[in-house]
Amino acid sequence: MHTTTTIIGMSAFLSIASAVPVPESRWQNRQSWNNAPAAPSAPASPFTFPLSNGFPDLTADALQAVEMQGQGTEPNGAAPTGLSDDDLTSFRLIAFNELFEVAFFTDLLYNITNNVAGFSIDDPKQKASMINAITAIQAQEELHAVNANAILAANNQAAIQPCQYQFPSTTLTGALSFAKTFTDVVLGTLQDVQLHLSTNGANGVVPVIGSVIGQEGEQNGFFRASTDLIPSAQPFLTRSSREFAFSALNQAVVVPNSCPNANLIGLPIFAPLTVITSPIAANDQTLQFSVAAAPPAGASVVYINGQNTPIVQPISNVNVQNGVATFQAAFPYTENLLNGLTIAALVNGSGPFADAEAVAKATIAGPGLIEIN
Ligand SMILES: *[C@@H]1O[C@H](CO)[C@@H](O)[C@H](O)[C@H]1NC(C)=O
Ligand SMILES: *[C@@H]1O[C@H](CO)[C@@H](O)[C@H](O)[C@H]1NC(C)=O
Repeated sequence: MHTTTTIIGMSAFLSIASAVPVPESRWQNRQSWNNAPAAPSAPASPFTFPLSNGFPDLTADALQAVEMQGQGTEPNGAAPTGLSDDDLTSFRLIAFNELFEVAFFTDLLYNITNNVAGFSIDDPKQKASMINAITAIQAQEELHAVNANAILAANNQAAIQPCQYQFPSTTLTGALSFAKTFTDVVLGTLQDVQLHLSTNGANGVVPVIGSVIGQEGEQNGFFRASTDLIPSAQPFLTRSSREFAFSALNQAVVVPNSCPNANLIGLPIFAPLTVITSPIAANDQTLQFSVAAAPPAGASVVYINGQNTPIVQPISNVNVQNGVATFQAAFPYTENLLNGLTIAALVNGSGPFADAEAVAKATIAGPGLIEIN
């Protein structure tokens, strides 16, 4: 397959597309919902692996089919070995995230293909082009996940196994907006991964991470353009840290206690920080937040956007009722042009903080994910 020069025509493409794995658990559950008119609004059952092609365990043939769908192969050089514990943490997190992304795009592809309410696209051309794009993305995410777990295996570490997932999106636009948001978090987190690799002397691994940053950035331009936003959000994308990515996934999409070995990932899961104000317009304003416990005296809200120094704002009007604390903080949009992703965190103290990782070290609750323009 790797040496063929045949251009894949439309009919060949269709046969590949028909081989796209489906979430078997989802399919069975949908069938049973359809047969159960008494419970039409039953909550979506969790997404579970494996896929019909065996993923996350792919035979050589199945891997080759995924490579065809993803339009490229796994890196065929030797996987990096001798990685530090700290960098192994990064690859465990990457595998954990990519497994979720496979789940999400498999489910999204299923919803679009099967005209699930909220996901049907009337124009056949538009539908075909969306399916083509998501088919490639779904396969590319499988290849990212396989690669991260292969790097763990090359370092004699256990593969990260998938959890069960639930998705907040119930419409196509909602799903693409959510994809934009989690991809923005990944794009920021992989910056952090590169910094750790180079600090730990594993410079040779920085380029492959760079190739994935660009790849996910291409995806994100598509998600943005498909939801009527300009493709590129800001000149310098928002920095994140591994702690924020791991917390966001656990808070937003992972079914609690469904992960076989996420305990191997040595990262904290912060308490959720809810951004109550919604939608958030592109102007200076006061935002409302809530957390599950009263913030300590002197706590602040920090905003991380672009490659700028994190912005620290005092909190005010703290109100604790039934164990839930609400409070406010100014959102200085105009001065800082807070477009694209802004990561909000409730921190102990008032900094100053040099970067996203310094913020993570002081975080009590977060991340609150704010997207503008
Ligand atoms: C697919 O549709 C179901 C039913 O509306 C929904 O619960 C789920 O979140 C959707 N999946 C995605 C990825 O948006
Ligand atoms: C906040 O910081 C203070 C001073 O460093 C420390 O004593 C306190 O335990 C911290 N509180 C939380 C909730 O982290």
